[in-house]
Amino acid sequence: MKMNEDRYPFLRACRRQATEYTPIWLMRQAGRYMKEYRSLRKKYSFLEMCKNPELAAQVTLQPIEKFKLDAAIIFSDILIPLEPMGVEFEFAKGEGPVFHHPLRERKDVERLKIIEPEEEISFLMKAIQIVRRELAGKIPLIGFSGAPFTLASYVIEGGHSKNYILTKSLMYHDRSTWGALMEKISEVLIRYINAQIRSGVQALQIFDSWVGCLTPSDYEEYVLPYSKKVIEGVGTSVPLIHFATSSATLLELMKRAGGDVIGVDWRINIREAWERIGYDVAIQGNLDPVILFGPMDLIEREVKRILDCVEGRPGHIFNLGHGILPNTPPDHVAALIEAVHQYSKKSPLLKREGGKG
Ligand code: CP3
Repeated sequence: MKMNEDRYPFLRACRRQATEYTPIWLMRQAGRYMKEYRSLRKKYSFLEMCKNPELAAQVTLQPIEKFKLDAAIIFSDILIPLEPMGVEFEFAKGEGPVFHHPLRERKDVERLKIIEPEEEISFLMKAIQIVRRELAGKIPLIGFSGAPFTLASYVIEGGHSKNYILTKSLMYHDRSTWGALMEKISEVLIRYINAQIRSGVQALQIFDSWVGCLTPSDYEEYVLPYSKKVIEGVGTSVPLIHFATSSATLLELMKRAGGDVIGVDWRINIREAWERIGYDVAIQGNLDPVILFGPMDLIEREVKRILDCVEGRPGHIFNLGHGILPNTPPDHVAALIEAVHQYSKKSPLLKREGGKG
């Protein structure tokens, strides 16, 4: 780690170093719960905002100006690298992403292009540079990508899915086409993430949002080797957070795939999650996003409960268990951040150094 990055609580926690207070950021921290976002969104579509570096930078900074967050995350989407690969999609109103030509056969995989992200996704690289300049060293910037499984599920299903029948059918019926698809996506992700590092991101998160639909043995056989390849291909120059939801049964395997930090959702107690993953990696999580719709005293109670579970051990990054939801009251977000900072500051255990046991 570069010496001058040592002062950021977020980056220190990723490396399991002691911090004065527990750092916090929120998945989807730029988004529809903010009136500043909604008012820009009246003028531009979501993809227009992603593809315009100035707008993407502006949206990235909206939550930073309003809340005392310990990291920014670049405004984009996990689906962005798919378009230059030759997979077209749109965001239909109220429906999420829709792919008009879902990938079903070997020939579809062969048509996928291996991209040059700095040229074909230059808008994102430019947005990263603008945000770094605007942040002027105040807090670090996180880059991100989807993980191979979650991206493969979108291109095969043609959108969001409940049971992943098409994805699993391809896995089970045609192992070699599945392998070829996962290899190709992995290769693109390695290029995509490394381009983000060269453009200036100081940490990364890999979202394997939908991998919780798999049995542990299917994860091990059909997913782990590819996630591992991507994570190894990123190297160690910046810390990497490996995140999934509904992953309580997969945590040990996710750790095997890699990551400096494992991100967990709220369906598991964070004390148990960390015990099982082992204290040689950091942990991120895990407030239920819906708690933010509850009263302030409940939010405070849940913050304390989670912080008590981790017992001030270095290497905890506070976050929600999944993205912040539209309609979340912004004053509750401010209260959450304040509660995490205040309560973790008081904990005498935080002075403990080192990441072991
Ligand atoms: O965290 C951040 O603030 C960075 C921005 C970010 C977005 N999407 C912005 C977004 C990040 C990190 C993502 C990741 C993402 N995108 C994931 C993985 C994380 C997760 O939630 O599990 C997934 C599965 C996607 C794909 C995606 N993008 C879906 C399914 C949808 C539609 C559903 C929805 O929430 O609207 C999106 C759209 C999207 N991505 C929005 C935002 C702010 C809403 C767009 C709008 O304004 O209408």
